[in-house]
Amino acid sequence: MTRIGIVAEASGETRVAATPTTVPKLIALGYDVVVEAGAGAASSFPDAAYTAAGAAVVDGATAWASPVVLKVNAPAPAEIDRLADGAIIVATLTPALRPELVEGLATRGITALALDAVPRISRAQSMDVLSSMANIAGYRAVVEAAHEFGRFFTGQVTAAGKVPPAKVLVAGAGVAGLAAIGAASSLGAIVRATDPRPEVADQVASIGGQYVEVVVPEEAKQISADGYAKATSEAYDTRAAEMYSEQAADVDIIITTALIPGRPAPRLITAADVASMKPGSVIVDMAAAQGGNVEGSVAGERVVTANGVVILGYTDLPGRLPQQASQLFATNLVNLIKLLTPGKDGELTLDFDDVVQRTVTVVRDGAVTWPPPPVQVSAASTGAGASTGSATTGSATANSAIVGAKRPMSTGKRTGLVVAGIAALFAICAFAPPPLPQHFLVLTLAIVVGFYVIGHVAHALHTPLMSVTNAISGIIVVGAMVQITAPNLTVQILAAIAVLLASINIFGGFAVTRRMLAMFQKGETR
Ligand code: NAI
Repeated sequence: MTRIGIVAEASGETRVAATPTTVPKLIALGYDVVVEAGAGAASSFPDAAYTAAGAAVVDGATAWASPVVLKVNAPAPAEIDRLADGAIIVATLTPALRPELVEGLATRGITALALDAVPRISRAQSMDVLSSMANIAGYRAVVEAAHEFGRFFTGQVTAAGKVPPAKVLVAGAGVAGLAAIGAASSLGAIVRATDPRPEVADQVASIGGQYVEVVVPEEAKQISADGYAKATSEAYDTRAAEMYSEQAADVDIIITTALIPGRPAPRLITAADVASMKPGSVIVDMAAAQGGNVEGSVAGERVVTANGVVILGYTDLPGRLPQQASQLFATNLVNLIKLLTPGKDGELTLDFDDVVQRTVTVVRDGAVTWPPPPVQVSAASTGAGASTGSATTGSATANSAIVGAKRPMSTGKRTGLVVAGIAALFAICAFAPPPLPQHFLVLTLAIVVGFYVIGHVAHALHTPLMSVTNAISGIIVVGAMVQITAPNLTVQILAAIAVLLASINIFGGFAVTRRMLAMFQKGETR
């Protein structure tokens, strides 16, 4: 039985890699769990709760010497030395930004898995700590802004006068941005949001925000075919800067979450924009750790400008909700361990044919395996039934389809298959006895037409489409009604049953369609 060690984090980090709720799940996977004394204290999980959950509370040396070590943040160099030979460590490693850490881990001859490298594909969503932490951070950014802001978020009419609602602008509508939009609009603020990916407009609207589009010519639009934002064009940036100047002078709160993976944070709000804001306004720059979206923000700090605008550059927003953040982080971690323990026998194995396991592995037995081969993800629905299926760009981006690593068929192979299909069709038409060729031709045409028609309908609309096609059952009703006057009683009964069942199918189909379409219509109850 392999031992998993949950180690305490350095001071300043409030989260912990396992909670009393997740410990039994690790034990059920066949592991022996030890927790460093006090590891969960900052998340309000006392040692006694871990003991009650089945873990042994031990000293730091014992926890660090475990064959598998789970941690929230990357280990410091001194902590790397505490790992046992051949150990496996799972933590947030930011390998792309910390080559020295990757080197340090490799020289110890261990295996290191980066939780923050989990690809954003549907199968891996349950392990995606970046999304679960960004979701918490977006919510907390609104709470921090509300705490600093000297007014209500919601508008009110009181005996003492009318209170206007606060106006909030959210820049970047990814996971954190959508969480911020949802939180701010549920507090009653007028929420506007912008993002270069136009496909987020519906998501913004569905959680109560107004999408602010940066209008640029078609060719200057940003295409997000891989599910993540791409660098914006110069034309876009120029128009966006004008939009931010207008908005800064109007809104009370700005929350920026703009990020393009692998690049420094794009600068969106200039010092002049900040200077144009009303005193008492608040900016939360969630990208402060990556260089900041806002001129004048300082990572980890609260800054007050000369004109009385508060700029928060906090980089520990998830840790400000420690219990919740630990619970989600630890659950993501359990889901990864579950994937790595197919036998549920406490034996952790790494399968490099699996895209998730390959992508998270930064070092394997001392050999650097970072960077992994790219995993293609897409925000656009492609209709392809890739192995990883459709998914989201995070918890809040529930309507974005993501496509896994399946490669498209080569042109040569595709042409070969089409030629073989045509030849088979001709052979059947030439040699099969009538009326088989005619039926076969109709079937083939139906498949081709169906493929192209259904293939071009968005995934989200497949259910209404199917329920509408149920109406084709109408033909059964017609046939059954013709037979209902037949002299044979059995035929009459069967015809009546057919009319009943087909009618349920038709009307039920339309009822389902109506319900589904109502979900996309504003103001209608489901
Ligand atoms: P995400 O990738 O889901 O979303 C980023 C969004 O920014 C995308 O929708 C993208 O289209 C948009 N974007 C890119 N360029 C833009 C531009 N020029 N203008 C406007 N929008 C633009 O990322 P996620 O997970 O939502 O994280 C957002 C930020 O929050 C990241 O910088 C992340 O590091 C940070 N974060 C901060 C935390 C904190 O404690 N401060 C905690 C968690 C995340």
